[in-house]
Amino acid sequence: MMEDAQRNDVAPEAWSGVHRGPLRAGEWVRLVDGKGRKHNFELVAGKRFFSNKGHLDHDEMIGREEGFTVTSSAGGEYLVFRPLLSEFVVSMPRGAAVVYPKDSAQVVAMADIFPGAHVVEAGVGSGALTCSLLRAVGPYGRVSSYERREEFADVARANVRQFFGAPDGQTHPAWQLTVGDLAEELPASGERCDRIILDMLAPWECVDAAADALRAGGIVCGYVATTTQLSRFVETLRAHGGFTEPRAWESLVRDWHVEGLAVRPDHKMMGHTAFLVTARRMAPGERAPLKKRRPAPGAYGVDYDGPRPASEPAPPPGTE
Ligand SMILES: C[S@@+](CC[C@H](N)C(=O)[O-])C[C@H]1O[C@@H](n2cnc3c(N)ncnc32)[C@H](O)[C@@H]1O
Repeated sequence: MMEDAQRNDVAPEAWSGVHRGPLRAGEWVRLVDGKGRKHNFELVAGKRFFSNKGHLDHDEMIGREEGFTVTSSAGGEYLVFRPLLSEFVVSMPRGAAVVYPKDSAQVVAMADIFPGAHVVEAGVGSGALTCSLLRAVGPYGRVSSYERREEFADVARANVRQFFGAPDGQTHPAWQLTVGDLAEELPASGERCDRIILDMLAPWECVDAAADALRAGGIVCGYVATTTQLSRFVETLRAHGGFTEPRAWESLVRDWHVEGLAVRPDHKMMGHTAFLVTARRMAPGERAPLKKRRPAPGAYGVDYDGPRPASEPAPPPGTE
């Protein structure tokens, strides 16, 4: 049994990104004012935080246990905590658009990311999804990230280091970042993996590389913003033949206002982020059974010019 004293700190080798104990210089804090406005920044000894309510010295916060209230020079009250991963990723510096926490949660759950998994992801963008993947695979797993733009790779490196980093500048031991196009670099690496997550403009260009790298039973997961991307990605997976029937969905999250008798959905919500798609890799040489149900009339008619499943050859011109 683990001693209570041992439970008091998250072992550094857990690489969770979670710290306990007094706030330290170099850590990020999240200040929330009475109106719910958020300010996220790194604590630096001797530095001041300025807002429309005056200033606050970082030294007033360093050394205290998180979860306290501070008052600025002009009377503004702020709640102080370390940011959670879901809060860090929406406030960290960005190169490309990030995967939002509600979708990262879907990816981790529905693409079945597990401790010790070997996950390939592209593109890494700002590193938001990378942080969730690293947390899910843990220090004994592996996340191989591919990003074709060096400047985004730099942003991601800094964000991952900030979230997980040890004081001596080490980064997460399970992480490897390659600058280059996944469709070229993954086959060249010879990597075999359990899961592949594609968050990019044209994931269909990476389907062959993903199929070759995935172990039998592995999962490919795509995150795409538009219906045209969704269609092309799903149809490319079907046309490849080495995957199970893709599943496509989106998640909508709506907060609720709960106050006395006034209990109702919030007026505002994030209407759309992206669609998710998953499919499983068949064993080499195996094909998924053809769908028993016929597609809707016209689904693959003369007006459709995308990739086709083997069961739906193009109709001869002039036949519809
Ligand atoms: C929307 S961003 C990814 C955001 C990231 N998942 C996050 O949560 O911060 C898309 C990224 O994919 C990169 N990209 C697009 N196609 C790629 C490819 N074939 N291989 C590697 N990176 C690619 C782009 O340069 C861009 O940085």
